[in-house]
Amino acid sequence: MGIQVTNLAKIFDSNQGQVQALAEVSFAVTSQEFVSIVGPSGCGKSTLLRILAGLIEPSRGKFAIDVESGNHRPQNAMVFQGQGLFPWMNLLDNVGFGMKMRGARPAEIKSEVMGILSQFGLEKFHAHFPHELSGGMRQRAALARAFLADPDVLLMDEPFGALDAQSRLLLQQELLRIWQANRKTILFVTHDIEEAILLSDRIIIMSGRPGRIIEDINIPLKRPRNLVEPEEHELIGELKGKIWNMLESEVKSSMEESL
Ligand SMILES: Nc1ncnc2c1ncn2[C@@H]1O[C@H](COP(=O)(O)OP(=O)(O)OP(=O)(O)O)[C@@H](O)[C@H]1O
Ligand SMILES: [Mg+2]
Repeated sequence: MGIQVTNLAKIFDSNQGQVQALAEVSFAVTSQEFVSIVGPSGCGKSTLLRILAGLIEPSRGKFAIDVESGNHRPQNAMVFQGQGLFPWMNLLDNVGFGMKMRGARPAEIKSEVMGILSQFGLEKFHAHFPHELSGGMRQRAALARAFLADPDVLLMDEPFGALDAQSRLLLQQELLRIWQANRKTILFVTHDIEEAILLSDRIIIMSGRPGRIIEDINIPLKRPRNLVEPEEHELIGELKGKIWNMLESEVKSSMEESL
């Protein structure tokens, strides 16, 4: 099994009063499935991922992340919206942080981190601090860290949001390659409908705040997929139209609310 979410709700208490971020949300992601979540800004997507990553508690409901992981403890890795690198650590320490926490030796950490940094074209920057890197490089570093952790479940919060189009395409291809080779369970938040269609097995569509699931649609595109020149154009176009029809009024009303 991958992820099971049952009647999850989240209400935040803030100085301005209570904000209900998530209404009752229930869904399941089976092991090795690639599922995307799309929904208007503020509908609780990051909140949902933060709950699943164990960073915050839900107000109601429950969830289970259950991995058949032999003798190592279940772990899930989160790629944070806005990278989430530690500003006081250089890239080597940032990317190797998880290994260090698990008690790996410095020499081992260095060789693993340099290996993954070179896959992401970042090895020359291992001694740089996050503020010395471009936004795209920081995002690649956050991905390198998640991949190095080699989790069974990857929770990805708009991991390609801040990238230029070429880097984005490259990393989408890399993600699909890694997923196909290692068959991880992926829950992927994006604002980009086309990205969701091209990458996923299923797309969960959420309403405006408080976020509910309004649709859960299957993406019947063949794999492996060519992201540069996708086949099945007509089907992709149809899916895009269908998803946008469901989202449009939700996005409009959440924009009006925030004006
Ligand atoms: N720690 C917090 N305290 C109070 N309110 C919060 C907190 N975190 C999130 N919220 C509120 O919960 C709602 C959902 O936020 P969340 O970040 O989950 O949305 P999102 O769907 O990820 O949006 P975006 O697409 O813009 O990233 C928002 O109204 C936000 O202001
Ligand atoms: Mg978010």
